[in-house]
Amino acid sequence: MTTATESSAAPSSPGVIHWAARYDILVSLLTFGRERSFRERLLAPARLQPGESVLDIGCGTGTLAIAAKRKVGTSALVCGIDPSAEMIARSRRKASRARMDIAFEIAQAESLPFPDARFDVVTSTVMLHHLRRAARSQAVIEARRVLKPGGRLLVVDFVRQSGKGLHAHFHRHGRVDPRDLIALVTDAGMNVIDSGPTGQWELQFVLGTWTAQGA
Ligand SMILES: C[S@@+](CC[C@H](N)C(=O)[O-])C[C@H]1O[C@@H](n2cnc3c(N)ncnc32)[C@H](O)[C@@H]1O
Repeated sequence: MTTATESSAAPSSPGVIHWAARYDILVSLLTFGRERSFRERLLAPARLQPGESVLDIGCGTGTLAIAAKRKVGTSALVCGIDPSAEMIARSRRKASRARMDIAFEIAQAESLPFPDARFDVVTSTVMLHHLRRAARSQAVIEARRVLKPGGRLLVVDFVRQSGKGLHAHFHRHGRVDPRDLIALVTDAGMNVIDSGPTGQWELQFVLGTWTAQGA
């Protein structure tokens, strides 16, 4: 665990996106202006319940964390981390405009600034494909570390299929083998509860959970 300092992140590492405003425009175009329902569908497999604490890793401009906050309610803890200062600044502005108390911090998935067993649910959408294999494994191990025993991890990413179209074009650089997505979760010592297509583009989800040894 790193301490919660913003200097712990490495903003220049590969895969970090700095063009936050353009990112939102791009997603809006790709979802034909229906980003809110797109986010809700991506989040659905996590089965969020009121009061649950949530961390979104690689939160980008914060839209998924905002959708999560709507589900868990105002008194529940919701955090988002991203190594990009631009993404975090935009996330904070969006949460503030929506009058939502969400803690956005600059940090990396491989070294989360949170204590063990902090969250009921950890989510990460369209982030893992940005990382090299070793960093991916480390990110999922970190996600498990900050999950409470019995907590849930939802990972969503593009899978390798013969995709055409605009979104396939924008993600031609990085896709994850669906089996690899499952292996990342099981190799981190978690059980896969559910997995499959999200129904959105070629995005696949894996929902994992873990139980503390001897619990
Ligand atoms: C394609 S965007 C997805 C953003 C958001 N999760 C979404 O669904 O729109 C990938 C995000 O991962 C972030 N990222 C890149 N490397 C990362 C790392 N090592 N740890 C955490 N986030 C990372 C990027 O800065 C970017 O915001």
